[in-house]
Amino acid sequence: MTANTTDLELETLRVNRLFEIPVCVLALKDASRLNGELIEEIRKLRARDKGVRISNRGGYHSKKDLFDHNLPGFRKLMDGILRSYNETRMEVYGLGCSSTDQLRVQGWVNVNSSGDSNEAHEHLGGGCHWSGVYYVQTPKCCQDPGHITFENLVYKDFGTGTKRIWRVPSPSQGRGQSAYHNCVPLRPSEGEIVLFPSSTIHRVDEFRGEGERISIAFNITDPALNHLPDAGDPLPFSGLRSWVRYYFYGVYLPLMRMKQMLVGHG
Ligand SMILES: [Fe+2]
Repeated sequence: MTANTTDLELETLRVNRLFEIPVCVLALKDASRLNGELIEEIRKLRARDKGVRISNRGGYHSKKDLFDHNLPGFRKLMDGILRSYNETRMEVYGLGCSSTDQLRVQGWVNVNSSGDSNEAHEHLGGGCHWSGVYYVQTPKCCQDPGHITFENLVYKDFGTGTKRIWRVPSPSQGRGQSAYHNCVPLRPSEGEIVLFPSSTIHRVDEFRGEGERISIAFNITDPALNHLPDAGDPLPFSGLRSWVRYYFYGVYLPLMRMKQMLVGHG
């Protein structure tokens, strides 16, 4: 079928942009002094905390109790995060926080050296609503600074296993490229905070360069947003019933029909 084969004319076009993902970038003013303080506090923290392995492939990932350490640099950053979230909340929902005291923030440090990266993940497991990253040190000399790359997909549990679902098609990026495999890399800069909904799948691309790429990641739980589904929520087809349905549907369905014939429809 080709376009313009009839005289029909379109009268209107309305695009409902549903479920767009707000990925917000904010910058702290005069961040270099704060970054100096943070680098020193992170150096001391690394001497005490050997770190954990979560999404990181190489590099250092601290425990998620960063803001429990009552240190001046971390406290100032916490203040910057709360202000940034409040601005974002106003922009996205038209609703500022009357008080940031109710917000719960959990943070951790990531330090990547050349060759290190973080695999694709989301942060729903923490029962939080918004997540973010503050960039303390981003070496500028290299082509591969460790972009934070946001992915156009969601994970879905089909009962038989979790699958990756690409969300929205986009123009092809080149021959052989799927219309769905569109990812958006952002190049971080020192003093910037990137904020995004915790459900957004993201990764940190491999850093290749001199020195260390240092960032502080965090999760925010906002009671005013009420309950949001998290990784612990049961899906419509979960548990034993789901298993039976998927693997023994040929038996399950006739049995259910027989039951309906015997006892009638409930
Ligand atoms: Fe993350």
